[in-house]
Parts: sequence; structure tokens; C-alpha cells
Amino acid sequence: MKKLVLFILPIALFATDGKKVFETYCWGCHHQTAVAFGPPFSEIASKRSAEEIRAMIADPKDVSKVFGYKRNAMPAFKLKEDELQAITKYILSYKPADANATDSNKSKVK
Ligand code: HEC
Repeated sequence: MKKLVLFILPIALFATDGKKVFETYCWGCHHQTAVAFGPPFSEIASKRSAEEIRAMIADPKDVSKVFGYKRNAMPAFKLKEDELQAITKYILSYKPADANATDSNKSKVK
């Protein structure tokens, strides 16, 4: 039983962090699996890498163009490194099981 708790604890902490960042900064425009003002995390996770997600959060004005959006409606966020890591992992945790099929469609961010 103790072993089980030790195993689950890090996962629970990690999930809480990303979720907190999400609820603080992103929730107004993004939902996990439903389309809101911006695309759902499940869709983002199916086509973007961690680097692309981080680039978008830091510089949406330029990166939204690279992603093919005609307009940029997302504001830039200055997140701390641990917040960035947590939210990126949180988004990627919504990657659908069959997402590998779309890997070749990923756009490139330099
Ligand atoms: C004011 C609304 C708004 C907020 C707040 C917001 N976004 Fe966005 N986001 C958008 C919109 C709209 C788009 C679509 C592209 C655009 O218009 O810039 C987008 C696009 C994105 C994309 C790229 C989508 C793709 O095609 O892969 C990522 C990644 C993303 N958002 C992450 C986040 C994260 C993480 C947060 C919180 C830290 C956040 N967004 C907060 C509105 C928002």
C-alpha cells in the first residue's frame, strides 16, 4: 500500500501543477477537449511538439503565423520555467492515442 502511494504521489503533483497554470492563464480561451475561443488541448497535442507549444506561449504573434493562422488572437505569456514545463506537459497529456498518424503534418518552428 505504501509503495502504491509513493508511486501515485509524483503523478498527482505533476498533474496539479499543469492544471493550475491552465486554470490561471489559459482556461478562458482553451478547454481540454472542447473547442473554445482557441483550439482544444487534445487537438494541439495531436499536432505539436513540446518546443512548438512553448514557442507559441512565448511568442504567439509570430508563431501563430508559422502555424498557419491568419490572425493572432492569443496574447503572449511570460511564464516561469516550471510553469512552462508544467503547462506543456499538461497539454501533451491530452494527446489522443492515434496521434502518431498526424506526426508528419507537424509544422516546423525554428
Ligand atoms: C485570450 C484568449 C487566449 C488565451 C488566454 C490563451 N490562448 Fe492559446 N490560443 C488562442 C487562440 C485564439 C489561438 C489560435 C491562434 C491565434 O489566434 O493566435 C490559440 C492558440 C494556441 C496554441 C497553438 C494552437 C495550435 O495550432 O497548435 C497553443 C499551443 C496555445 N494557444 C496555448 C495556450 C496556453 C498554454 C495558454 C495559457 C498559458 C493559452 N494558450 C492562453 C487564444 C488564447
